[in-house]
Amino acid sequence: MTDALSPVLPLADGRGLPQVGLGVYKTTDAESATAVDFALRHGYRLIDTASMYRNEKGVGDGVRRSGLPRDDVFVTTKVWFTENGYESTLRSFDESLERLGMEYVDLYLIHWPAPATDRYVDTWRALLRLEDEGRARSVGVANFHPKHVERLVAETGRTPAVNQVELHPWLPQPELRAYDAAHGIVTQAWSPLARGHVFDTARGGEVLAAIGRKHGKSAAQVVLRWHVQLGIAVIPKSVTPARIRENIALFDFELDADDLTAIAGLATGERTGVDPDDRN
Ligand SMILES: NC(=O)c1ccc[n+]([C@@H]2O[C@H](COP(=O)([O-])OP(=O)(O)OC[C@H]3O[C@@H](n4cnc5c(N)ncnc54)[C@H](OP(=O)(O)O)[C@@H]3O)[C@@H](O)[C@H]2O)c1
Repeated sequence: MTDALSPVLPLADGRGLPQVGLGVYKTTDAESATAVDFALRHGYRLIDTASMYRNEKGVGDGVRRSGLPRDDVFVTTKVWFTENGYESTLRSFDESLERLGMEYVDLYLIHWPAPATDRYVDTWRALLRLEDEGRARSVGVANFHPKHVERLVAETGRTPAVNQVELHPWLPQPELRAYDAAHGIVTQAWSPLARGHVFDTARGGEVLAAIGRKHGKSAAQVVLRWHVQLGIAVIPKSVTPARIRENIALFDFELDADDLTAIAGLATGERTGVDPDDRN
């Protein structure tokens, strides 16, 4: 077992969030268990799953297989938007814990605000109860625009510790990052590799490859290092052992001003997923 390779970002609730973690979207229970066990043996300490991924059981198995003490691993899961609402969220949380085979999660997120159904404030109240009970050590949101966060704070007085959003060089989200920073919220990037755009020459992937050649790193490492230098957290997904190791080997090089300018030139505002206002 290697030592932890990722720095830890402080959360406003006093806890800490490993800056680099493993995503497991679109992997089966069996694939997740193998990838999670491998990642934890190679320096990862954060795993990002969700009830919607249908692999919480595999994630729990992988954590146990790694042999690491439960307290050394940071596990995130999420309530799916069809379960938004107070009682339905509490029920969904119990089911997630059962599948994970765990007594608590480190971070519980509202997966999408789904504003048309207008149940995300009630969902947030359920998360606050779970946090107060200690069954979710930290609570936060995903895919929330600042206006959605504003409403949570206005109606409950409590601010999410984390906002997990789509964020990569094509969609760098400067306003959202500034809002989060000003309100003590840690931004965590999903689809950091833009699900392959990073390698697509037609979309500017060559720019990243060239920066990588300069530093002796891959295009994926250049992009993930860019996230790290923004001071945000990141959860690349891979089930490929060599890539899992590559995606956390980010702390022995630094992008310079020319690199950052070139990467800034890739921004188009293009999403790989839907706009949070449209998911209902
Ligand atoms: N909150 C949300 O709404 C939300 C939405 C989407 C995702 N997420 C979370 O964010 C995580 C990451 O996002 P994502 O899975 O959408 O996309 P991603 O991490 O941007 O890209 C994953 C893809 O890139 C490949 N890949 C990974 N590392 C690579 C490397 N070093 N070189 C070449 N290819 C590489 C993977 O292939 P292999 O696996 O085959 O290696 C996979 O096909 C998810 O797993 C999930 O945990 C959250």
